[in-house]
Amino acid sequence: MVNVSSPKPDPFATNATRRRYQRLSPIYDVMEGLAEWRYHPWRTKLWSQVPGLCVLEVGVGTGKNMPFYPAGISITGIDLTLGMLQRAQKRAGDLLLRSRVELHIGDAQQMDFPDGKFDSAVATFVFCSVPDPVLGLRELKRVVKPGGRVLLLEHMRSPNPFLGAVMDFLNPLIVRTMGANINRQTVENVRKAGLEIEQIDDLGAGGIFKLIVARIPSK
Ligand SMILES: C[S@@+](CC[C@H](N)C(=O)[O-])C[C@H]1O[C@@H](n2cnc3c(N)ncnc32)[C@H](O)[C@@H]1O
Repeated sequence: MVNVSSPKPDPFATNATRRRYQRLSPIYDVMEGLAEWRYHPWRTKLWSQVPGLCVLEVGVGTGKNMPFYPAGISITGIDLTLGMLQRAQKRAGDLLLRSRVELHIGDAQQMDFPDGKFDSAVATFVFCSVPDPVLGLRELKRVVKPGGRVLLLEHMRSPNPFLGAVMDFLNPLIVRTMGANINRQTVENVRKAGLEIEQIDDLGAGGIFKLIVARIPSK
């Protein structure tokens, strides 16, 4: 008989990602502090476009998107890493968001949520580190309702052939030290997962940073 069960995440790669972010969690906000002035307008732009009242944020990290959550929506945030999530819990409390933000440990590649639970889903700087990004994006397609949106803010491999090759060369070192792959082909991965791309905004750095808005196809 043919085995048609859906692909499962690789536990070895997933644990390695979790360990890296656990190690980084005490210094993550300081480490990203300088970059954040650049990210601020991009986060504002993304959250101004999030449709619906019931939103999933995967890879919520230390909760850096929380100040940008629009009023009146409820957010479910998941993250692989306890140390990151504990910081997000504290931030939710500091920003008085506890009544409308639920946080859980969870893996984007294999979520417990039922099909079509959310109106939309958001991830910022996450699919560079999810071990199997296409599997994770397929899970977003499953848990967001047909016609809903997935909004991603991501860095990816440069379209410049020379810079792209440099990024390929440096990638193993960056993954080990920072947890993130710098040479992911995220636009292609979104397509491979079966999402319909509606908008790609090139945010700078020669095509490395992008805001991607994709639609869940109607069944
Ligand atoms: C670079 S941080 C980004 C955090 C936050 N989204 C931000 O914008 O600052 C990547 C986060 O993704 C989480 N992550 C990586 N793989 C994941 C997975 N498979 N499922 C859920 N979270 C994951 C990591 O634990 C980490 O908190």
